[in-house]
Amino acid sequence: MSKKLVLYFSVYGTAKKVAEEIARQTGADLTEIIPETPYDSNRDNYNALAAYAKKEHDEDMRPAIKNDINIADYDTIFIGYPMWWYTFPMIIYTLFDKYDFSGKTIIPFNTHMGSHDGGTYDTIRELEPNATVVMNGLPVEMKTAETGAAKQVEKWLKSLNI
Ligand SMILES: Cc1cc2nc3c(=O)[nH]c(=O)nc-3n(C[C@H](O)[C@H](O)[C@H](O)COP(=O)(O)O)c2cc1C
Repeated sequence: MSKKLVLYFSVYGTAKKVAEEIARQTGADLTEIIPETPYDSNRDNYNALAAYAKKEHDEDMRPAIKNDINIADYDTIFIGYPMWWYTFPMIIYTLFDKYDFSGKTIIPFNTHMGSHDGGTYDTIRELEPNATVVMNGLPVEMKTAETGAAKQVEKWLKSLNI
């Protein structure tokens, strides 16, 4: 049987909720991508986070990941993140720089406030040409994601035959 991992990055907790829901419905293991320098998760400080994230994006930064992530033991890896400035957070680039996903199946999902997947599933395919990237990922609008999006997740997993 294939071993599954749900790997996610989340600051406000909504991608985390969806990640937990996917893990619950699939029995997959769950791992958070933890940044070396924590981001401000207080939603009242959104403007400061937005400005900081924009700087990371514009300067093509690679924010460090604090934890060692075990991907070797898994053949199917769900990867989830929020949309930040019309793409994924720069720490996801760090993930793809640091880890080799060759031979793995990557199933992306993300949270957003209108940008859907923003073309990020295509970006993953470009960054990981030796992985199988499932293009039928799951973009979840933030409000739905707050509660885990159980129904959407269930329907989506069924469509993937998982
Ligand atoms: C810095 C920043 C930039 C964002 N940029 C976008 C964007 O370009 N498009 C979009 O649809 N949502 C954008 N959002 C909204 C997030 O995708 C949304 O709040 C998401 O649910 C957050 O995920 P999290 O709770 O896992 O951190 C942005 C949020 C932040 C904090």
